[in-house]
Amino acid sequence: MTRHDPETSPRRAARAEAERLATAALTLPVVPGGDGSAAAPPTRRALRRDDDAPEAGESEPRGIRRLAPVLLRRRLAVVAAAAVVVAGCVVAIGAAASGGGPDGSTDAVAQIAGPPAVADDGIPVPQLAAVAATATPCDDPAFTSALAAGDDAAVIDAAGGGQAFRAAVASGIAPCVSLSDPNREWLVVNKQRPYDPVDYQPGDLVMPADVRALEDSALRAPAARALTSLVKAASAAGVGEIGYLSAYRSYTTQKSTYAGRVAVGGVAEADRESARPGFSEHQSGMAVDIVPCNGSCKTLDDVAASPQGAWVRDHAWEFGFITRYAEGRESVSGYEPEAWHLRYIGPELARAYHEGGFTTLEEFFGLPAAPTY
Ligand code: DAL
Ligand code: ZN
Repeated sequence: MTRHDPETSPRRAARAEAERLATAALTLPVVPGGDGSAAAPPTRRALRRDDDAPEAGESEPRGIRRLAPVLLRRRLAVVAAAAVVVAGCVVAIGAAASGGGPDGSTDAVAQIAGPPAVADDGIPVPQLAAVAATATPCDDPAFTSALAAGDDAAVIDAAGGGQAFRAAVASGIAPCVSLSDPNREWLVVNKQRPYDPVDYQPGDLVMPADVRALEDSALRAPAARALTSLVKAASAAGVGEIGYLSAYRSYTTQKSTYAGRVAVGGVAEADRESARPGFSEHQSGMAVDIVPCNGSCKTLDDVAASPQGAWVRDHAWEFGFITRYAEGRESVSGYEPEAWHLRYIGPELARAYHEGGFTTLEEFFGLPAAPTY
């Protein structure tokens, strides 16, 4: 709707002059133009209600003339503009806090458009841009087809890498990703997250090549290949041989493992060291308990102080493994530290885990702590 400039009305001009004298101290901000130059000084911003249509011959709604003197309107305009700016800051801070930002993560991002539009009756009107708050990798065909194909590396690649994938999942914008899917490298099993089905069995178990196995215990193929590479690299680095005891354990095996711990130390003690059947990472075929070997192999308890243990702490992530039960994190992971228990999550996620300084998978994916069943 075209409206004539209120400043050209003699009556308004007179009133404006009176106000100018009375409110010399009140200045309104000059809003820069899109090219960085100063736009025309702001004048008035009319507050409008549907029932406040202007009368014939008037340039302004009746309600405004009746209820809001120009000074008040100016102040409201300033407050409104400030509120929009504050809202913008809050949105920007929120986006940054949730992980969105220059890394290109897929977190929901809201933004303020600039420069503000200038209303036909004067005052610049800061406006919130349309908000793209629902961007999700689950709408990306490359992501969903990789997911359907069971290609975990391609899924993460389509998300923009490990950190972007993590951010999307942790922020809740990727509901098509299930952290409960036992076939996925991003599976999270803990005292609050049993397998479904509880006696799940992986389908691609193989014995890792060229690694000393002290038990007849296999790993899923990608984890097995990664363990072979890790052991080879550790040996090349001069820290000695790494062997392993237990890798995949079935639901039934875990039942006896846990029962054995209960028999020795009681339920409370067993629950700090051993998972109940249906709750162990070993059942996924993506966890392995390593041991240091120098001629003969030592025990799990010898890992932490061994050169092999030190090397693994620093380098396991390069091969897609994390130390799942870290020192001092029992209140989150549910278990005492286990320097020997490596969990395979794939190289992209392990890199994001390492670079992000994470020490539990729960925090990595924004899940609740799981100290108890
Ligand atoms: N020792 C770990 C927690 C397990 O039993 O899976
Ligand atoms: Zn273990």
